[in-house]
This record gives sequence, C-alpha cells and structure tokens, in this order.
Amino acid sequence: MTCFDDAVTTSGYARYLAAKTSVDDRALNRHVVSELCRLMPAGAPRVLEVGAGLGTMVARLLDWGVVGAGEYVLLDADRRLLDCSRRWLRDWATARGVRSTLLPDGLQVGDLRVRLVHAELGGYLDAVPGELADVLIANAVLDLVDVPAVLPGLLRLLVSGGVYWFTINYDGETIFEPAHPLDDQIMRAYHRDMDERVRYGRRAGESRTGRHLLHHLRDARAPALAAGSSDWVVHPAPDGKYPADEAYFLRSILRTIRDALRGQPDRVEPADLADWLAVRCRQLAAGDLVYIAHQLDFAGRSPH
Ligand SMILES: C[S@@+](CC[C@H](N)C(=O)[O-])C[C@H]1O[C@@H](n2cnc3c(N)ncnc32)[C@H](O)[C@@H]1O
Repeated sequence: MTCFDDAVTTSGYARYLAAKTSVDDRALNRHVVSELCRLMPAGAPRVLEVGAGLGTMVARLLDWGVVGAGEYVLLDADRRLLDCSRRWLRDWATARGVRSTLLPDGLQVGDLRVRLVHAELGGYLDAVPGELADVLIANAVLDLVDVPAVLPGLLRLLVSGGVYWFTINYDGETIFEPAHPLDDQIMRAYHRDMDERVRYGRRAGESRTGRHLLHHLRDARAPALAAGSSDWVVHPAPDGKYPADEAYFLRSILRTIRDALRGQPDRVEPADLADWLAVRCRQLAAGDLVYIAHQLDFAGRSPH
C-alpha cells in the first residue's frame, strides 16, 4: 500500500510547489538572503526568475520586503503551471490585501509588474537575449539542468555586475528517519537516476549540484560572495501533525523517488521498493517520518 495518487497532474504539482513554500521559508539561508539584500539594486530593478514554477518566490520576496517595485519575470517550461501561477498570485495578493490586476501576460501586484514567460531554459539561452536583468534567481532549479552548459549563458542574461541568487541546490544527501535497511541502496539508485536524467533532450541535473556549483561559479568569473546551507528539514509537531501542507509535500517526495526507481529493477528490486515505500507511507500517516535533504544557497555578481 502507498500513500499517493498514481498520476502527477498539473494541479497536483502546483499543490506540491505551494506545500513546499513553508519548507523553503525555513530552509533558505538567512546569511545569503542578507547578502542578496545588500547587493539588491535600489529603485525598480528588473528581476528574472528561471524555473519559477507557481511563483511562490516572488510572493515570498514581496513579503520579506526584498522586492517591491519594478518588473519580475517568471520563466518556466510548463505553460499550464504558469497559468496556475497567475491565479495563485492573484489569490495570494487578495489574501494579503495587496492590490492586483490580471494582465494579458501576467499581473500587476502592488507596484510590481509580474510577467510570465513560457520557455525552456536551454532554448531561451540559445535565442538572441532580450532586455538584460538586474537580478537573476533560480530556486530548486539548477539541480535540474546541466549547470556547466547552462551557467555561462545564464550569467549573460544579467547586466554587467548584476546580482544572482541561486538557492535550494540539492547536494547529495537525503535522510529519512527512522532508518530503514534499504535506505542506502534506495538513495544510491536515486542519486544515480539524477546523474543520468535527460529532460527536454538535454542532460538534466546531478546529485551533487550544490558543492559543484561553487566551482562552476568561480570558473565563470562569478564567485559566490555568500554561501550557506539550506537544508529541508520536515518533521511532525509533538501532536504528530505536520505543519501547513507538509504531509502532502512528503508524499510528493516519496512519489518522486518511486517514479525515479520503479522502472529500474536492476538497481532496486520492485518488491524491495514497494516494501520501503509502504513503510515510509505508514510512518508518514502515523506522524513518525522525518525527512532531511541537504542543499546549498549562493549569492554573487555576474562578471564585469
Ligand atoms: C522543483 S520546481 C521549482 C519551482 C520554483 N522555483 C519553486 O521553488 O517553487 C522546478 C521548476 O523548474 C521548471 N523547469 C525544469 N527544467 C526547466 C527547463 N529546462 N527550462 C525551464 N523550466 C524548467 C519546472 O517546470 C518547474 O516548474
């Protein structure tokens, strides 16, 4: 028995991204956030966020007072997710009492113009660049792309000396508690799947993106000015309940592991995978499951 629906729908993925918000809120490294605030251009900057998903980051940065005016572009390869984003951001603004207006290509939220751009990152970088950004953000995205291939083009999307903030970069360590005898084998196979993944016809990420990004940034003449860990730590409250929608977040993580491994009987026996998932789902239902994923955040400037 498992604890998730079979198919991942757009609305299911959007719910996962919304559920991830409170986990990311705790995880984002505050030392790196302070550096971002120090580097942030005054006035009305042009911000580009790649792989922006539902747009929860623009909502967070408005809440945290990091952005307020200017333009914020949400770029994502998933058009249906961007459609959800428009509605999600409008509802978020309404709940906060912030004035918002839907526009043909996005929405106005207070003094911030949010623009939605449907594009696959590799193709977008291959095309002639449009207007350059003052700030470039990628949250929980760079571990899904081929960083050495993509990073120089990404940095060229910034004005000279523009600011980057690359956050929630997975770094090779996932821990579930209580421990299970199959954990090591499952995680080895899961990491191998990340290392071999192909999406949109391109290599798509690796299991140690975080630590390698430090070197890639230096090689691209954009060394990190601040770095720090941004581990996801999800655990039940003393009453056994998970905060906000984090039980759904954990179900989504388990489903992601299942989807990565269920076609790989040479790496994990299907019966072993099913047993492991069944144990984890029972622990989740009982409020016994703890999940930790090690990640790293970086902020810096593009080359002058
Ligand atoms: C894990 S989600 C993170 C979304 C959002 N940044 C957040 O933290 O909530 C990764 C997002 O990147 C997008 N994505 C993945 N690969 C992409 C690519 N090659 N080009 C553009 N978007 C991509 C996905 O569609 C998805 O919305």
